[in-house]
Amino acid sequence: MIIAIDGPAASGKGTLARRIAQHLGYIHLDTGLLYRAVARDMKEQGLDLEDAARAAATAADLDLASLEDPDLRAPGLGDAASVVAKHQPVRERLLKLQQDFAHTPPGAVLDGRDIGTVVCPEADVKIYVTASSEVRARRRFNERMQRGDAATYEGVLADIQRRDERDAARDAAPMRPAADAVLLDTSDLDIEAAFDQALGVIHRKVGRPG
Ligand code: CDP
Repeated sequence: MIIAIDGPAASGKGTLARRIAQHLGYIHLDTGLLYRAVARDMKEQGLDLEDAARAAATAADLDLASLEDPDLRAPGLGDAASVVAKHQPVRERLLKLQQDFAHTPPGAVLDGRDIGTVVCPEADVKIYVTASSEVRARRRFNERMQRGDAATYEGVLADIQRRDERDAARDAAPMRPAADAVLLDTSDLDIEAAFDQALGVIHRKVGRPG
């Protein structure tokens, strides 16, 4: 059983995917961490994020244990990740490991931008999570305040909008809902309500997965 959860920055897809996986006893992969890790490794070596060949080589050398690094969530790496994620050779390098993960029995939940369209077009359930950019910026801003980060709402909103534009406009696996994805707008939903709705979608599509 493969469940694909896609959507734009700070849409809540990660929290939702984690909750669903926990509820169903499936494994979960936040695929954004892969692109964040490539960006981190390139920055550490002083490499140019626009260099597709270097970025692909860095993706090929990725140490999967390093995905546990809590610093991967650092705000600056989101933007850097979206630069390396534009490169088709980087995406190709990361494809098989995502697909292998997705086929782990009894099931897997993957969240990202292109899971339903490119990584797992055969996924049993596809949910595309959205919310207005203002709501998403507010949520991300609150998260960062709780962590004690210095951030402004306007800065967070600008980052989200710039990243969404880059992710949607790129040629390689652009961010968009798969034709057979169910849209879940969480602008007016808290995490509990979003989780209930997502579970409803899963039950309608595949019954009650065991
Ligand atoms: O958590 P947040 O929504 O801020 O970002 P993320 O999911 O960690 O993704 C960071 C960046 O990685 C995105 O802006 C995308 O450019 C890229 N990404 C991608 O291209 N494809 C994926 N499946 C996941 C992330």
